[in-house]
Amino acid sequence: MRSFTRLLAVPAIGLMLTAAATNALAGPPAVVRDASQASWSVHETAVINTLRLGKLAPAPLDPSNAVDGKDAAVQLGKRLFGDVRFSSNGKVSCASCHSPDKQFQDGLPVSRGVGTGSRRAMPVVGVGHSPWLFWDGRKDSAWAQALGPLEDGVEHGGNRTRYARLIQSHYKLEYEALFGPMPRFGDAPQDAGPQGSAAERAAWDALPRERRDEISRVFANMGKAIAAYEKTLAYGEARFDKYANAVAARDPSGQRVLTPQELNGLRLFIGKAQCVTCHNGPMFTDQAFHNTGVPQRDANKPDHGRAAALLKVKQDEFNCLGPFSDAKAEACQELAFMTTDGAGLEAAFKTPSLRNAALRPPYMHAGQFSSLDEVLMHYVRAPAATVGHSELAHGKPGHTERKPIQLSAQEISDLALFLGTLSGPVVERAPSLR
Ligand code: HEC
Ligand code: HEC
Repeated sequence: MRSFTRLLAVPAIGLMLTAAATNALAGPPAVVRDASQASWSVHETAVINTLRLGKLAPAPLDPSNAVDGKDAAVQLGKRLFGDVRFSSNGKVSCASCHSPDKQFQDGLPVSRGVGTGSRRAMPVVGVGHSPWLFWDGRKDSAWAQALGPLEDGVEHGGNRTRYARLIQSHYKLEYEALFGPMPRFGDAPQDAGPQGSAAERAAWDALPRERRDEISRVFANMGKAIAAYEKTLAYGEARFDKYANAVAARDPSGQRVLTPQELNGLRLFIGKAQCVTCHNGPMFTDQAFHNTGVPQRDANKPDHGRAAALLKVKQDEFNCLGPFSDAKAEACQELAFMTTDGAGLEAAFKTPSLRNAALRPPYMHAGQFSSLDEVLMHYVRAPAATVGHSELAHGKPGHTERKPIQLSAQEISDLALFLGTLSGPVVERAPSLR
């Protein structure tokens, strides 16, 4: 709720405040027969305005990635994103799990690469707006993130020495145009890396330090090109944005794009269902981590989420403060001032964007729910978390201040319909326009 006090102070802009509108947050939702007649309080109008796509600031250039925003990096990154040679079985690319025709994910509860993972793929669209990457935020930039799956045993399953050699064989010109001369790998083995099999790790440890750094630098640069491409992927306008633009412009006919049920869903979303507490701003996410009591996929192997990621991101050789970053230390504020209260972050996961969410079931960090209705039933039930403390659970010590959300079957259906209005195209924008 960080910006709400400011929002409340937004001056009235000539709106007619009806009794129904002022009571909407407290009482039952106003019945709206014609969408163009929906009346919003000053506060609601201000909140709706913060959610439209037009309010999204361009994703900032990443100071740790010197090729961010360069067309040549975008072109190279796009090719690497779909290149299956960068995998142990020659069959897996980023696009295997982040398919452009499946909302840049795979539609599975947990992803399959060369093996099977334990979490659900995330859409890469809008990644430039996220300070922390992955469900647990264990990476602090899109380029550092891209290096994770490449060396992960169940995803691409390869190693950085092999990848650096592949870059040399297939992308040397493009690489050198961006990053300067490619090192010679000389007597370095074919397969060596710090995350691989025992043999690959031993081969890596046997390499001289400078050779390891050269290889790691080529590897890091692959990630930087991929990140430059990912940052061109953006959400286009959804029906909701057309509506919110019309509200902002006070254009009644433009407001007919939403049905009365969808409008009621919006009223609940920003009102009594309290969704906007976490799903806020034009991306419908606060980019923060919360334990919402989502059931563990495997009770014997609990997923600790953000709490288990804090040390990983601090110690990551590819983080903003590391030797492969292009940033000055003072540009790494997020990392330097990261919350380290692990207890409060037990089983907390990143709030996902709700843009296009209706198009990409299943839901949650391990695909625990197969439909939006199931997600909404979870919010209504608000169960206590099995690991850590759910921020949503009610009636428990320490959480008693929270009133249970009561939603009728009709209201649940209206909320789900509203979520459908957040679907729009995915567009690839030139770096200068993103
Ligand atoms: C085997 C399937 C698989 C492959 C291959 C794969 N990913 Fe992912 N991706 C996932 C999963 C699963 C997650 C979430 C994992 C987690 O949170 O631990 C994820 C998360 C991400 C995220 C985080 C998005 C966010 O909002 O935090 C990005 C970006 C991403 N992947 C990009 C890539 C890139 C780039 C590649 C290729 C280098 C790639 N992925 C390869 C499955 C895959
Ligand atoms: C306390 C913060 C918080 C509140 C309040 C909240 N959410 Fe969420 N939401 C999250 C987090 C965190 C996740 C991911 C949880 C996970 O995967 O374990 C999530 C996941 C979702 C998803 C699944 C998206 C996906 O891609 O998997 C939907 C849909 C959703 N929320 C809708 C809502 C709606 C509708 C409301 C209001 C009834 C709401 N949320 C209230 C934080 C919140």
